[in-house]
Amino acid sequence: MEKEIRAIILGAGKGTRMKSNLPKVLHEIFAKPLIGWVLDSINNLPYKNESIVVIGHGAHDVEEYLNHNYKYVRTTLQKEQLGTGHAVAQAVPMLHGYLGTLIIACGDTPLLTTKTLHKLIQFHEEKGADLTVMTTEFDDPTGYGRIIRNTKDEIMKIVEQKDATDEQKGIKEVNTGVYCVDWAKIRKAFNELSNNNAQGEYYLTDIIKWARDNQYKVLGYLSDDNEEIYGVNSRQHLAVASNLMKKRYLNELMEQGVTIVDPDSTYISPDTTIGVDTIIYPNTYIEGKNKIAKKCKIGPMAHLRGGCEVGSGCKIGNFVELKNAQIAKNSNVCHLSYIGDAEIGNHVNIGAGTIFANYNSITKEKKRSKLEDGVSIGSNSVIVAPVHIGEDALVAASSCITKDVEAHALAMSRGHQKEIKNWVKSNKEKK
Ligand code: UD1
Ligand code: CA
Repeated sequence: MEKEIRAIILGAGKGTRMKSNLPKVLHEIFAKPLIGWVLDSINNLPYKNESIVVIGHGAHDVEEYLNHNYKYVRTTLQKEQLGTGHAVAQAVPMLHGYLGTLIIACGDTPLLTTKTLHKLIQFHEEKGADLTVMTTEFDDPTGYGRIIRNTKDEIMKIVEQKDATDEQKGIKEVNTGVYCVDWAKIRKAFNELSNNNAQGEYYLTDIIKWARDNQYKVLGYLSDDNEEIYGVNSRQHLAVASNLMKKRYLNELMEQGVTIVDPDSTYISPDTTIGVDTIIYPNTYIEGKNKIAKKCKIGPMAHLRGGCEVGSGCKIGNFVELKNAQIAKNSNVCHLSYIGDAEIGNHVNIGAGTIFANYNSITKEKKRSKLEDGVSIGSNSVIVAPVHIGEDALVAASSCITKDVEAHALAMSRGHQKEIKNWVKSNKEKK
């Protein structure tokens, strides 16, 4: 039988410090909300999985986003935000009958990777733990829950910043807020949490002490990468998290054999794959899911907006924007063009300033166009979707193409050039 896990993701909090009308977990990095990054990391685990998101502030918006993008994810409403323990308690009835391994994570930690989650689950299961809390160390642990260990190095409990003694505040090992539990055992804790603490909240962290008191095996999994649990609580944090994500991915790409000429000015979403010996020039911004093959040249100043496939040996030049565009091999779009909702063949040349008019603002519909192999589009042309341009056809510069073009044909749709002899001279003389 395929291994199965479940996850509870906490996302009901307001995120007061974001100073936003948007719920915190819907703030975006590379056009994907924070909660999307967390859900994807869980989804990419090599197990059958099912997630429940606890929603509260902006519940309607979060639910709408999840319904559109993560149909299989279920939500539960936490009407009042009485603490992280109370949040998890809202998901308990939905897990009725589930007795396996469960992950608890927060919806505002977009840098948490599948790899780390996988290691946490493996550690938890290999050691036969009932509850494993992922921990990490910070030189400055301010704000985090501190991990309290006994002389045998066993985890006894977690103490929140606001409840900690001065001595406890000196502890550098902290709670990442990610837990792996044996649900059959630990679910019972959620009937027994109290809010007797400095914040008057039901703390999820109290399940550690509860588990110990009930003779369950509690372990800590120390993650050496404290960047991964970086939580977003403010716009400053959002910028830091975006930068960390981008730096991490650019390094990965360079290790895989992609040239990034200027990492500082280059932004590439981790949902984009890039083949070896492709060169990314400065000021390129790539968001969403895209596939760029090997030996391409992208940028400087290119903008890919998702749903793009660029075949090997293509050139996507300066001020070129692509969205939902599939471009086969060895084609060039070198300057100042927009290609949206289009399929483009091999060895196609798109002249400077070409625009694919894919959107009808009245019907709000987007239509696709298709260009076969060897097509050449003259500069400053508009391709009004939907059109099909046959193999090796040529579109003359400055044409507005609204009808299909046959293979091997020349299509031209512009005023013919007229010349009036001495027009300037005679007008000047009249003055
Ligand atoms: C929590 C942990 C702390 C840990 C830190 C890691 C507790 C009591 N403390 O603190 O030990 O070091 O995370 O980042 O768990 N949420 C709800 N409903 C609520 C309250 C919170 O859904 O009633 C959600 C928030 O939206 C957020 C997550 O839970 O996604 C964490 O809440 P937050 O208030 O940020 O916890 P911390 O104080 O950071
Ligand atoms: Ca808090």
